[in-house]
Amino acid sequence: MARVLSGIQPTGDIHLGNYLGAVRNWVEDQHLQDSYFCVVDLHAITIPRDPAELRAKTLELTLLLVAAGLDPDVCTLFVQGHVHEHSELSWILECVASMGELERMTQFKEKAKDGRESARVALFTYPVLQAADILLYDAERVPVGEDQRQHLELCRDIALRFNHRYGDTFLVPEAILPKVGARIMDLQKPTAKMSKSADSPQGTVLVLDEPAVIERKFKRAVTDTGTEVAFDPGKKPGVSNLLAILAAATGRQPAEVAEGYSQYGQLKADTADAVVELLRPVRERYTELASDPEAVRATLRQGAEKAQAVAGPTLARARAAIGLLSRD
Ligand code: TYM
Repeated sequence: MARVLSGIQPTGDIHLGNYLGAVRNWVEDQHLQDSYFCVVDLHAITIPRDPAELRAKTLELTLLLVAAGLDPDVCTLFVQGHVHEHSELSWILECVASMGELERMTQFKEKAKDGRESARVALFTYPVLQAADILLYDAERVPVGEDQRQHLELCRDIALRFNHRYGDTFLVPEAILPKVGARIMDLQKPTAKMSKSADSPQGTVLVLDEPAVIERKFKRAVTDTGTEVAFDPGKKPGVSNLLAILAAATGRQPAEVAEGYSQYGQLKADTADAVVELLRPVRERYTELASDPEAVRATLRQGAEKAQAVAGPTLARARAAIGLLSRD
């Protein structure tokens, strides 16, 4: 059974892009693979956060992942910061990664909006911590959306370099992207990806949005000039995004979905309906789970123990390989 690992940040609210690009696929993976999923609180603090809000969001996101179908008895669900091996391996890997390769990361450039001078050092080294998350678990497969592809390439490069220099230590992982839904775009600005930053509330469909809100967001979605319904992300980004969403929600291909439509209006209405039905059970289950958050906290303690049982030996291997003297 292949080992799978992926992570998600407890910042902002989880949206349709996170769901179609990642979480939904994790729910399937857990039954087929030996799966580890983490809520990456250490990554979240690379941008200053309100402490009480971060704690609340970490728990909320965990509840949402369980509501979406992650079963803590089937997969290992844990909070990254509960397993100290992540930060420790991250340091070791920082001693292997180069400034140049981190400087090429496009997400740093996007996120360091106020410029390099005030950006936190950890925002710059963020992808190294992500590499540690993955390598600690000997993960073969990392199911993510398209925006994580570059980070996964870096992780592979770091693993290969470490193995080459210090002997075989890490398994070299592979990114697994969904065929449809790997890059869901903002409904108001279909040339930008849907994202957790609250810049475009009307363009972002949240997993916990009420049906009426979802319908309104799709109704107001920006479409393209012309009237033809065709899948062509370059020329028709708005319509193509709707087609991709409807295709991902109904298990089809966007071009095939396009054949059934001659008007934007009907496409918007059907996409909204499909998304409402897709998310309805998640929202309902979330409401149930939210009444007893302590139950989920208990599963997180278990998850951290299970995760640590794998992460501990990998960290010991890496420490030994790079030449750190053991305490015993
Ligand atoms: P994060 O929290 O930004 O996103 C979680 C997952 O959702 C995917 N995603 C999307 N997919 C399709 N369309 C979109 N518009 C969209 N927006 C987000 C992301 O690709 C991701 O799979 N650095 C990571 C978290 C992380 C991680 C890891 C991932 C930390 N350690 C180890 C994998 C393995 C991040 O910020 O994801």
